[in-house]
Amino acid sequence: MNTITIIGTGNMANGIATRALAAGRTVELLSRDAGRAATAAAALGAQATSGVVGQTPAGDIVVLAVPFDAAKEIVTAYGDTLAGKTVIDITNPVNFETFDSLVVAPGSSAAEEIAALTPAKVVKAFNTTFAGTLVAGETGGQTLDVFVAGDNAEATAAVASLVADGGMRPIAAGSLKRSRELEGFQFLVMTLQANPALETFNWNTGLKIVG
Ligand SMILES: NC(=O)c1ccc[n+]([C@@H]2O[C@H](COP(=O)([O-])OP(=O)(O)OC[C@H]3O[C@@H](n4cnc5c(N)ncnc54)[C@H](OP(=O)(O)O)[C@@H]3O)[C@@H](O)[C@H]2O)c1
Repeated sequence: MNTITIIGTGNMANGIATRALAAGRTVELLSRDAGRAATAAAALGAQATSGVVGQTPAGDIVVLAVPFDAAKEIVTAYGDTLAGKTVIDITNPVNFETFDSLVVAPGSSAAEEIAALTPAKVVKAFNTTFAGTLVAGETGGQTLDVFVAGDNAEATAAVASLVADGGMRPIAAGSLKRSRELEGFQFLVMTLQANPALETFNWNTGLKIVG
């Protein structure tokens, strides 16, 4: 059984762990705080283990379920330990002070910035799925679309398998360069959730291609 290592114990860690377990994978949760990781893993059940950030990840796939700045710090600290592994970047590098732009330079993306810091095969995925929808495994009765972008075919295929086995629909979004569009797209979606005029959007929508 494949193991998925998830760094972080917050909302997205819980959502992705839930889908990974539904996909028949085992899950390893790593936190800065061993107790927090143990508590979160215990809540997920017997197929989840825990540890601390800094230990060698058990999984071939490592999910960075942390803020963008933390993701950069973590891959830098891991260095060559992540060589050969697939790292999933789920971050949305929104400027939360202004809530009016991304913090990455035009033409770049969080995923590409992270990829420049690690020998791992970086794949963008799950940045357009809100945490609650991942726990539920659907939203509005619809299957979740998960956009997967990356430069390594084997890595994107492994992530697509995880997505499909977890009951979602993987959409091959192209090279890692498409992360810019995925991050911009989700930034727009986030502003819609925060808009009081759109009161039915409550951080529970899903970005989906229909037709
Ligand atoms: N929430 C969503 O619906 C959603 C959807 C798509 C993408 N995302 C992206 O997913 C990522 C996580 O979001 P979230 O909502 O899950 O956040 P969250 O609930 O606040 O959880 C963040 C996690 O990151 C950990 N963390 C923060 N700084 C760290 C560091 N320097 N080293 C190690 N761990 C660190 C926190 O650990 P401590 O508990 O130790 O502080 C916590 O476990 C973000 O990049 C966000 O943009 C979120």
